[in-house]
Amino acid sequence: MTTCTADSLSTEDFDFLAKLVLDRSAIVLEPSKSYLVESRLNPVAREHGLDSISELAETLRKPNQRKLAEAVVDAMTTNETSFYRDIHPFDLLRTKLLPELIEKRSNEKRLTIWSNACSSGQEIYSIAMMIREHFPQLAGWDVRLRATDLSSEILERAENGIFNQTEVNRGLPMQLLMKYFHRDGVHWRINDDIRSMVRFDSVNLIENWPLTLMSVDVVFLRNVLIYFTPDTKREILAKVRQRIREDGILFLGGSENTMNLTDEFERTQVDRTVYYRPV
Ligand SMILES: C[S@@+](CC[C@H](N)C(=O)[O-])C[C@H]1O[C@@H](n2cnc3c(N)ncnc32)[C@H](O)[C@@H]1O
Repeated sequence: MTTCTADSLSTEDFDFLAKLVLDRSAIVLEPSKSYLVESRLNPVAREHGLDSISELAETLRKPNQRKLAEAVVDAMTTNETSFYRDIHPFDLLRTKLLPELIEKRSNEKRLTIWSNACSSGQEIYSIAMMIREHFPQLAGWDVRLRATDLSSEILERAENGIFNQTEVNRGLPMQLLMKYFHRDGVHWRINDDIRSMVRFDSVNLIENWPLTLMSVDVVFLRNVLIYFTPDTKREILAKVRQRIREDGILFLGGSENTMNLTDEFERTQVDRTVYYRPV
């Protein structure tokens, strides 16, 4: 048996686990990431009473291991996020894009904003707080703030709205912390009036998307396409195109773009902010 590292993860097990993660989430794990697989899956093995990653892989090769496979995928997702991450999209949304959309939707009085691959929820809660702070005219509108992710564990955290000190220190202005959060032991919990503005759902980008996510005005799809192959990125962008309104807005992450992937979106840049509009 060949090994990826000196003492534990074999090439066969790495390949097997990488394929399992790819099939279930589209996340690509290169062999150079074997250290990451080891460091993240050793705790999963222990939690499930297994002595090693090789035992974990052996168990996963048996039928009916859905829960264990989900735990493996959950562990291999990168959940890095923060409040008002890369601030520019939020600033442009506040100063230009949302006021324009509100004007356009003044008859129907309905607005849907979707944070896709939302991780622990900071992105959508940032938008919810922005709406509360700056758009009192939306009171009485049907404002749908939707947030979805593949990982059930991270969605549960997002829905609870509980953050540690380090998380609230990242990007959240003190004034918003004081106004919209309260202490919960050593943590901070977002107030119910903000939490209840958001609906969280489990959506795997490579599986069927709920029919309730149609005619979306603003889609945040940031820092997730980077994990996928170009073909998967193309498929996902094509699905977003079907779900976004003709005059809707798409935000990608700072290192992501639509180049060589689709010509169904037009890149627009305002100062330092890039966003995409359906063509
Ligand atoms: C780095 S976080 C990005 C969080 C947030 N969008 C941001 O930019 O701050 C990536 C998220 O993508 C999610 N993810 C990975 N593969 C996914 C898939 N196939 N379907 C849905 N979400 C996925 C992970 O669970 C993780 O929470």
